[in-house]
Amino acid sequence: MKDIIRQLVEAIGPSGYEGEVRALVQKMLKGHVDSMKVDALGNLIARKGKKGVDGLTIMLSAHLDEIGIIATHIDDNGFVRFTSIGGVLPRNTAGGRVRFLKTGQVGVIGLEAHKNTSSVPGLDKMYIDLGASRRAGVKVSVGDVAAFDRPFEDLGGRLVAKAMDDRIGVAILVEVMKGLKATPHEVVGVFSTQEEVGIRGATTAAYGVDPDLGIALDVTLTGDTPNADTMAVALGNGPAIKVKDSGMISDPRVVAWMEAGARKARLPFQREVLSGGTTDARSIQMARAGVPVGCLSIPCRYVHSPSEMVDYGDVQNSVKLLLALLARPVKLGGR
Ligand code: CO
Ligand code: ZN
Repeated sequence: MKDIIRQLVEAIGPSGYEGEVRALVQKMLKGHVDSMKVDALGNLIARKGKKGVDGLTIMLSAHLDEIGIIATHIDDNGFVRFTSIGGVLPRNTAGGRVRFLKTGQVGVIGLEAHKNTSSVPGLDKMYIDLGASRRAGVKVSVGDVAAFDRPFEDLGGRLVAKAMDDRIGVAILVEVMKGLKATPHEVVGVFSTQEEVGIRGATTAAYGVDPDLGIALDVTLTGDTPNADTMAVALGNGPAIKVKDSGMISDPRVVAWMEAGARKARLPFQREVLSGGTTDARSIQMARAGVPVGCLSIPCRYVHSPSEMVDYGDVQNSVKLLLALLARPVKLGGR
């Protein structure tokens, strides 16, 4: 599975420009699913299985897009000013590198002189240096997009890359769609677009799929690093079953079903309450007349930095848990 993770995290796909990542997923799923289609927002919708008498239409969603930047201005000396696509954190930005989608060109993020070294300057005080000395030598145009550039690293049990958010969810969903054998359900794997700019892809995908149950697959923060904000989630303690984040309260029946499934399959899991951020599950929950949802989170350190870190055991256990859950009928009961 590490090979597919490497391919996915090293692909470039800022929000709205997910084509390269989507093509990679289409190639990985070819021959392993019953159908695939791409909708108007660029969501890849893959289906497998038929909804039997005790079956549901279950939508699983992982987002293709990553945070990135977009060029806003190029000066006479060839320095490119930019703004963010999604939640780019200035403290993780200066000194880094970006790679432009259209040309593959790499640039270094530089910072204007600043006197107050105790504060972090905003992105408006930064620029991209493409190694040019004149505007004429620059092949970047206003509106061109780029992603942070950093190779995948395998530290043994821990994997590091840019865009683990949410390519690790994408990798898990690819493995689940491929590994799914007998299921009473129609399983719809949605590889969604534009999550980082406000969960836009999953909104239209959920309307189109009209599921009976939804689960998002995305990263969550951890509390296991020096002086981290207090949080119960830690790398290596198993996939996290989300109870609540700042945009969504999981259906308690879905949480109970996921926990019971993990216990039955003897897989480790942790409960997650995230104080900031949300996932595709928010959009699925509020689609049409409403959908029961949950979220399986992959614990991740340094989210929205070029070095996001996950635990490989958590990743593999996420695949196992989802396959175990999807193999049996779902009885949520009344509320
Ligand atoms: Co994110
Ligand atoms: Zn995400």
